[in-house]
Amino acid sequence: MSTEKTPASAQDIVFDHVVKTYPNAASPAVDDLSLTVSAGEICVLLGPSGSGKTTALMMVNRLAEITGGDIRIGGRSITDHDPIELRRSIGYVIQQTGLFPHLTIADNIATVPKVLGWDKRRVKDRVAELLDLVGLPVAEFGRRYPSQLSGGQRQRVGIARALAADPPVMLMDEPFGALDPITRERVQDEFLALHERIRKTVIFVSHDIDEAVKMGDRIAIFREGGKLAQYDTPRTLLKEPADEFVARFVGADRGLKRLTLTRLAELDLTPATSGDAALPAIGADASLRAALSLMVAEGTDAVRVMESGDGGGGGEVGAGGEGGEGPGGAKALGTASLDAVRKAGAA
Ligand SMILES: Nc1ncnc2c1ncn2[C@@H]1O[C@H](COP(=O)(O)OP(=O)(O)OP(=O)(O)O)[C@@H](O)[C@H]1O
Ligand SMILES: [Mg+2]
Repeated sequence: MSTEKTPASAQDIVFDHVVKTYPNAASPAVDDLSLTVSAGEICVLLGPSGSGKTTALMMVNRLAEITGGDIRIGGRSITDHDPIELRRSIGYVIQQTGLFPHLTIADNIATVPKVLGWDKRRVKDRVAELLDLVGLPVAEFGRRYPSQLSGGQRQRVGIARALAADPPVMLMDEPFGALDPITRERVQDEFLALHERIRKTVIFVSHDIDEAVKMGDRIAIFREGGKLAQYDTPRTLLKEPADEFVARFVGADRGLKRLTLTRLAELDLTPATSGDAALPAIGADASLRAALSLMVAEGTDAVRVMESGDGGGGGEVGAGGEGGEGPGGAKALGTASLDAVRKAGAA
């Protein structure tokens, strides 16, 4: 089968004792990095400024050449690839999105497919498909220039462009760093929903622990000197930080952060009774942390858990309603007590 026509499936990425020492540098920027990113997973590189996150990322597409060890994508060493071809086969998103200001949105996205020699029809279809995927219909946005979009929209175009040639691997360097908190959360959610559908192997740089916990299947925490401090799932990292440095980096509220990882829907709820109507109500999609916050705000020791509507959101659904019916007819699934939340969070 021609690999050009079939969508590339995700591939794993292996860092095997990787070292990067820049010319004239006294010590390595990345020092003996070994980790495996499984196919289809999102790996977040997290750590303080200067700890080698960007360098680690740029070695994957050979924008920075490794000086020791090896990186393999789908079992093949990156040094076996021509650097230019390698880069075309890997999506790359950077903070400032790097869109070409003099090209329309559609032409920005079409850049790599055109270089790869796709025919016009196929390029056009792909551009429309991708803009649709990131929620910017081609009819409305295709002919605009980057300066005619909001920051969040430009980020989404950056993601669409990185996906254009359907690369099995995506590298993202603080892609949402420049966005305000609300837009950022929305673009994060959009990206996660997109990732559910397209399942690329993603390496994502962040220096924000909350973003890392939200986005990562696994998190690699770097310390100064480009050394890997810990590589684990968010849950394990928050529960069992490997040392003092990691514990400090993830923050004193790591117990609370862990509560963000579990949805109320995952709890064994206490069956609802008529006496529960006075309890504050919250959607089953909401996290344990949101439930705890609501209990603290309302001064109760339990919440009423409501069936979440489509699209989740998972926020507060408001109190009141009779016979287990919330506003808009949401059904009460049961109640979650403070104790149940605490126990589930500690598990
Ligand atoms: N082109 C370069 N030449 C020489 N040294 C470099 C180069 N790029 C980065 N470095 C050095 O390598 C180290 C790691 O830099 P890198 O950009 O990978 O850090 P980072 O973790 O991405 O930091 P930040 O969070 O600030 O983006 C730093 O000490 C930096 O000064
Ligand atoms: Mg960086």
